Amino acid sequence: MNGTGMNETIETIEVAFSLNTKPASASFEPRELLIDVLREKFGLRGAKRSCDLGVCGACTVLVDGLPCSSCSTLAADVAGRKVTTIEGLGTPQALDPIQQAFIDHGALQCGFCTPGMVLAVKALLASNESPTEDEVRHYLHGNVCRCTGYVKIIEAVMGLAKKRGVDTKTIEGNSA
Ligand code: FES
Ligand code: FES
Repeated sequence: MNGTGMNETIETIEVAFSLNTKPASASFEPRELLIDVLREKFGLRGAKRSCDLGVCGACTVLVDGLPCSSCSTLAADVAGRKVTTIEGLGTPQALDPIQQAFIDHGALQCGFCTPGMVLAVKALLASNESPTEDEVRHYLHGNVCRCTGYVKIIEAVMGLAKKRGVDTKTIEGNSA
């Protein structure tokens, strides 16, 4: 109802996309943000809202394989694209190797940043199987962690790289 007493019609759009490798569609207002659609329409709560400004990375999902701040992305913009959330990355019985590496290296404390961090690492390793420590730090600069001091996170990523036969002297030399 508006100020004149007339009924307002709220416009919605139907958007189809791929969500965690399965076809998905949802109806929502054009102004709605991807994080809200994922959390409220699909019940996928892994992406966290924190800064709401596109700077902390807590809301990171992958769109066509690249990190995307879902707090700053219109849901309508993922029409026809591939969206991956942390829920699409493994199961409790069969974790993604990145998730397992974070556990093995103690690379999380409160866990608030972890879904976004893991997805960012996923994108990094998909584009660069053998990142240097500097490359890892640079790639993850948009993912803020208030707990870990980043050392364990970097160790987890470099540990994965080591499993792939990569020389990790840089991180091994710096590790605590
Ligand atoms: S909540 Fe989206 S970048 Fe911080
Ligand atoms: S583990 Fe708490 S913010 Fe990263």
